[in-house]
Amino acid sequence: MSNENYTIPQHVAIIMDGNGRWAKKRMMPRTYGHVQGSKTVEQVCEAAWKMGIKYLTVYAFSTENWKRPEQEVNTLMDLLRDYMKDCIQKSSKNNMRVRVIGDITRLDEDLQLSIRELERVSAKNTGLNFQVALNYGGRDEILRAAKRLAKDCAEGKISAKELDAMQENDFEHYLDTKEIPSPELLIRTSGELRLSNYMLWQLAYAEFYFTDVLWPDFDKKELKKAIDYYNKRDRRFGGI
Ligand code: FPP
Repeated sequence: MSNENYTIPQHVAIIMDGNGRWAKKRMMPRTYGHVQGSKTVEQVCEAAWKMGIKYLTVYAFSTENWKRPEQEVNTLMDLLRDYMKDCIQKSSKNNMRVRVIGDITRLDEDLQLSIRELERVSAKNTGLNFQVALNYGGRDEILRAAKRLAKDCAEGKISAKELDAMQENDFEHYLDTKEIPSPELLIRTSGELRLSNYMLWQLAYAEFYFTDVLWPDFDKKELKKAIDYYNKRDRRFGGI
């Protein structure tokens, strides 16, 4: 598809699903699928930026993923730990601004420190804005936002009158994605047709693209297919 109306979404959100099945098909442990999956993350970040996508948010670990076997949780945490450290090293080269959304207070102290360090060193980068959703749940994010707002009210930072006049975009300042525009496109791999508690507030008007491709097999070509699909949608935002 190539015409002058072809638009690249500013922000793409991805549910990276199918790592376990990808590994199983190869008679390998599920954790091998996650290792491959994290390599895919790096390739997709590069491809997204080259295509003109400015913001990319991936679902790396949900608030529900703690229920997985301890060994799998540990592997995922180790991969994320390695990823953060590696990204700190590469930060000036890849020019990516990395931020984490989710409640990181439940993560190991050293991982929390790496995350803060990476956010700090990459804060002035001007390339891809890459968000990693980590110990993230959409309901949890909205609840934490409501608690922060209630705290500001209790401390007198917001008056009853101001609370009454509050608009949706004022509330957005309390979400983990403050300063980040909402995604126009959601991609979920591996054929599951669910939102799984991902960016519930932010995806209100997004187009949804589902593909049977398993996450470790997702690549530049598959990303292009998703953008092509997005371009066939007629986005009306409730209008006609
Ligand atoms: C879903 O596949 C995938 C996850 C729960 C983890 C995603 C994590 C990564 C790709 C690696 C680390 C991320 C970064 C940002 C470096 P699944 O295990 O549910 O697969 P299945 O449905 O086939 O079992």
